[in-house]
Amino acid sequence: MAKKSNKRISFQEWVEQNVWGLVLATALVVSVGGIVEIVPLFYLDTTFEDDVFPEYEELEGVRPYTALELAGRDVYQREGCYLCHSQMVRPFRNERDRYGHYSLAVESKYDHPFQWGSKRTGPDLARVGGKYSDAWHIQHLRDPRSVVPESVMPRYPWLDQATIDEEGITKRLKAMKVLGVPYTDEEIIGAAEMVSGKTEMEALVAYLQVLGTMIQFEPGRDYRE
Ligand code: HEC
Repeated sequence: MAKKSNKRISFQEWVEQNVWGLVLATALVVSVGGIVEIVPLFYLDTTFEDDVFPEYEELEGVRPYTALELAGRDVYQREGCYLCHSQMVRPFRNERDRYGHYSLAVESKYDHPFQWGSKRTGPDLARVGGKYSDAWHIQHLRDPRSVVPESVMPRYPWLDQATIDEEGITKRLKAMKVLGVPYTDEEIIGAAEMVSGKTEMEALVAYLQVLGTMIQFEPGRDYRE
């Protein structure tokens, strides 16, 4: 027969022996952690690091994507390029040596959703803009192994065939505006004309060529030093 013990148990023991107590205590701890991390984000005026690092103040130039670049970004997402490519240079020396200045939050402030990622079957693309010519990208996307023989990247020959949906792009710009991207009325009105007759290939290349080029970093300079 179990003997009833009169021993006083500690809070720790009570929590460990009481399922609902444990659930409650866990929920409490997790929500305090969550609140401490999440609430300050609602009071930030900017994601630009210039209040922490004044050197960044001189770095300007992040702008919303043009209609053509935005169309290219949609192709990028549809084709799942992010499954093999990240877009975030991390603040480590080997990353900076290979890709350039580490990514700043401000660089993806108009990205909905952002493309940071962590899967790198292929190289990071955050700063690929201007690295190759348009012709190289087109050839590479049509048949990666024709320019990089050991590549495992798939071929995307159909991008040459489809044109961008003109009506759709206007709606997309409007949707981005709802999410806080400051598109002007002229940009929204002019969007259809800008993508008119362009192929998905042209749009995707326009997108790739702008990646990482909006801010002009001085090569080799570490802005935190
Ligand atoms: C199965 C994984 C995979 C997918 C999916 C993939 N890639 Fe790649 N990508 C690679 C690999 C591996 C390389 C490196 C070899 C090469 O250059 O082809 C690469 C290289 C690249 C490069 C050259 C980067 C550099 O700095 O040299 C670009 C640009 C690129 N990919 C764009 C794309 C785009 C755009 C898509 C989607 C349409 C895509 N990739 C989809 C694996 C992938």
